[in-house]
Amino acid sequence: MKFPHDFLFGAASAAYQVEGAWQEDGKGISNWDVFSKIQGKTFEGTNGDIAVDHYHRYKEDIKLMAEMGLESYRFSIAWTRIIPDGDGLVNNKGLDFYNNVINECLKYGIVPFVTLYHWDMPQNLEEAGGWTNKRTIDAFVKYAEVCFKAFGDRVKNWITFNETVVFCSLGYLEGAHPPGIVNDPKKYFQATHNVFTAHAKAVEVYTKLVHFGEIGITHVFSPCFSIDEQLENQQAAYHANQYWLSWYYDPVLKGKYPEYVVKQLAEKGWTPDWTEAELECIRLAAPKNDFIGLNYYQPQRVMKNNSEEVFDAKARENVTGAPGNASFDGVYRSVSMDDKKYTKWGWEIAPDAFLDGLRMLKADYGNVKMYITENGLGDQDPIIEDEILDMPRIKYIEAHLKAVKNAIQEGVNLKGYYAWSVIDLLSWLNGYKKQYGFIYVDHKNNLNRKKKLSFQWYKNVIETRGQDL
Ligand code: BG6
Repeated sequence: MKFPHDFLFGAASAAYQVEGAWQEDGKGISNWDVFSKIQGKTFEGTNGDIAVDHYHRYKEDIKLMAEMGLESYRFSIAWTRIIPDGDGLVNNKGLDFYNNVINECLKYGIVPFVTLYHWDMPQNLEEAGGWTNKRTIDAFVKYAEVCFKAFGDRVKNWITFNETVVFCSLGYLEGAHPPGIVNDPKKYFQATHNVFTAHAKAVEVYTKLVHFGEIGITHVFSPCFSIDEQLENQQAAYHANQYWLSWYYDPVLKGKYPEYVVKQLAEKGWTPDWTEAELECIRLAAPKNDFIGLNYYQPQRVMKNNSEEVFDAKARENVTGAPGNASFDGVYRSVSMDDKKYTKWGWEIAPDAFLDGLRMLKADYGNVKMYITENGLGDQDPIIEDEILDMPRIKYIEAHLKAVKNAIQEGVNLKGYYAWSVIDLLSWLNGYKKQYGFIYVDHKNNLNRKKKLSFQWYKNVIETRGQDL
């Protein structure tokens, strides 16, 4: 089977991880500009001040994407370039930059797929409470509307938020992302509700503009599986899926929160401060949400937590994303399993679980349109005689694309695949040590770009529409 012609082969990036130019052309200061400079927060103190200088080199980078045959480029807009202080005046130079990026993509026939929020929030808003403050909802909707109006004639694919579970859990439970708060479930659930409300309001605004495009949200897709058939572990997996999947997917796709979690939050005193009007807005926006974006890296293997232990962020030296912790409510723990394969950072490599998870989503949410908006291998790429021979990445993406193909054959409504990432970029917590790109960036030599082995491989996949996979 070849991939259908309306299926997009793409690759992705995010503003803070590639752009640099952190103080140029009127850009405001973001929470990440500040947070990354607090000692000990990022790997070897790395930050996005320069990143891989995409701000100045976007033409060179997009030319390479075109050479690779990329059909679509998923990138994010830095809110601080558009409205530097969060909810004040619009910065025209910021609009110019993204107009240039979009036009450059279109020049080569590359579909721009735009994320509005990939974690870099104006610092003013963060200091006023960030996602726990409802002012941020209105500010986001205003920013979204500015973007829709400025770029909507050419951008037809919009993602409101990237991975709410990550910036909320790392921000309010683990303290590893801004605002760096540890173990505060009340704030965590409030932040998630405010994000869902902001998403719903942005969907309403977009729909009213009648731009004939589509709008959705991107979630982490990390389905939880019990380690065995034991009932107590299966119950633990159910619990984990309710908290990590249903809590995120239900409000967007079903327009309401899962009853199981709502009930438990009430018992624990963690119910968000929500109004009837907000809940109604979430309910009404759900059928207008056009698609769901899935970022799949790994599943979670879980078992019942048999000790008193709950997740303790302070006890962890650094956050790697690898399993091995009790959940924040102490119900289950995530574990590594001897018979599974893992990356150098301890992330499980499981294309089979990807397919199982997609089946699970289809069973729960029906025929909703989906894109894989991120998937890829973080690795320290082997360099031999100046060539970047990233065979493990090729194998990883090949196996996951096969799973996508199988899912399509089984009737899952998948319309695109975006590898993470198009180019080597700054990992939020792992600096430049962990690479994901098809294009290598030489940090010792003027940030020069070089094609990796995977570049040619992906080009061939796109040209042949995945026929040989
Ligand atoms: C996703 C994010 O969670 O994972 C990306 O959307 C991120 O921005 C990617 O870079 C990989 O994470 P890490 O920690 O390996 O850099």
